[in-house]
Amino acid sequence: MLTAHDFPSAHVADQAGMDMVLVGDSLAMVAMGMDDTSEVLIEEMILHCRSVARGARSAFIVGDLPMGSYEISSEQALGSAIRMVKEGRVHAIKLEGGVEMAAAISKITTAGIPVLAHVGLTPQRQNALGGFRVQGKSAASALRLLTDALAVQEAGAFAVVLEAVPAEVATLITKKLRIPTIGIGAGNGCSGQVLVQVDMSGNFPPGRFLPKFVKKFGDVWGEAKRAVEAYKTEVKDRSYPAPEHTYPMPKDEFAEFER
Ligand code: KIV
Ligand code: NA
Repeated sequence: MLTAHDFPSAHVADQAGMDMVLVGDSLAMVAMGMDDTSEVLIEEMILHCRSVARGARSAFIVGDLPMGSYEISSEQALGSAIRMVKEGRVHAIKLEGGVEMAAAISKITTAGIPVLAHVGLTPQRQNALGGFRVQGKSAASALRLLTDALAVQEAGAFAVVLEAVPAEVATLITKKLRIPTIGIGAGNGCSGQVLVQVDMSGNFPPGRFLPKFVKKFGDVWGEAKRAVEAYKTEVKDRSYPAPEHTYPMPKDEFAEFER
């Protein structure tokens, strides 16, 4: 699984054979330049989902319910999930939380919308968690994590994202669940993995903070910058556009025009 936030990023994920594409609310930062995910609106998520849905033709598309669109009640959660499907054109939604979100997950799945759960480090709750911290490092918090994972499974989630969890804990939780786990910063014992596309493809300027779990598989930003700089140079020295980029005109026509 990989994130996408627009038509081109969805297209490349789909063409490279991703099983699932996630329109994560991380797009608040990577596509909209916000400081964190708390600012992004459901209308903005829907707009990005619509573009992703046009680019991802084979992958199963999951869209994040943004903060504020599902915590008030199960009815609010279902209403938001329906908007994501009808307006955003996603196949499923993801929401953050364990035991406390079980009722909402049950309500949404009963309406026929698949739910991907998300436990461990839940970035929408960063202020309550005291920042971006590894979750489940003590026996007690690992047990709470397992309880959360079992609760979302029983509520009907088709899979659960485990974020920033010690590998041993994620592996054991994966063994104890019937549904697949999708890890991000949770080791290789999960059923699957997810990463933020701009992070793994290196599509960000130098100096950006990257969590320990991200592997940079490419240098998309470096390549884009190289291309833009080459364009600038060739425009200034007039080597671009070259004759092959230029429309010809019959000589006699031009002679007449010149007269
Ligand atoms: O918003 C996001 O991109 C996510 C994942 C990386 C799991 O929630
Ligand atoms: Na997210």
